[in-house]
Amino acid sequence: MAKTPTGKNTSGRGQRDLKVKVKTARGRKLSSTRWLQRQLNDPYVRRAQAEGYRGRAAYKIMELDDKFRFLVPGARVVDLGCAPGGWSQVAVKRINALGERSGKAIGTILGVDLQEIEPLAGAEFHQLDFMDEGADEQVKTWLGGNADVVMSDMAAASSGHKQTDHLRIMSLCETAAYFSFDVLEEGGTFVAKVLAGGAEGELQKLLKQKFTKVANVKPPASRSDSSEKFVVAMGFRG
Ligand SMILES: C[S@@+](CC[C@H](N)C(=O)[O-])C[C@H]1O[C@@H](n2cnc3c(N)ncnc32)[C@H](O)[C@@H]1O
Repeated sequence: MAKTPTGKNTSGRGQRDLKVKVKTARGRKLSSTRWLQRQLNDPYVRRAQAEGYRGRAAYKIMELDDKFRFLVPGARVVDLGCAPGGWSQVAVKRINALGERSGKAIGTILGVDLQEIEPLAGAEFHQLDFMDEGADEQVKTWLGGNADVVMSDMAAASSGHKQTDHLRIMSLCETAAYFSFDVLEEGGTFVAKVLAGGAEGELQKLLKQKFTKVANVKPPASRSDSSEKFVVAMGFRG
């Protein structure tokens, strides 16, 4: 089970107390300085670097899976908005995509993203805009069958306008949900990032019709000052 990085200090050197201060620099905006300072002092960022994950987002899916256990050996997983690949790294291990755990079923993972994704052993990645016409059919072709888990961490670049960002992410999330209704095996799981802000009620209603259990979760790795949360819908009715 994943430990929270804010928990025990494993180095024994009092790392948590060593706050990195970033001086404001000519040409750098105050918001960038604040971002840099937050990154440098974020225990999840440090842990991701130490443990070889491509980003702190890896801990969000770890914590969600520790709670709901959907990434099981042998699972066929679709990772929407997978770049740079942190969620896939976690999934590759947990679904036994490399067959490292003998006697356990071997899983598969297919990831897509707008951006180029560095290859990862055990995963198949494609660069694709999931909102493009026909993108869902293309992903289905690559998948070549049904999936047990569809997970989406898709998020459009921030516009700086809260309501616009909210509507954009909800549209990504809804498209991912409809895709999951097409490809999920009965009993399958849909996991997606949403932003609190109003429009998520409709999606909840829809998911409750299609799945036996729908939970809204804010994993510890999700920053408390962010309005993101995750919906985990389990037991697809088919
Ligand atoms: C928060 S990041 C995902 C991080 C990833 N889960 C990880 O652990 O590395 C969100 C991703 O969604 C992708 N994205 C946004 N809109 C998309 C779209 N229309 N189609 C595919 N990917 C999209 C972005 O390019 C970005 O890489």
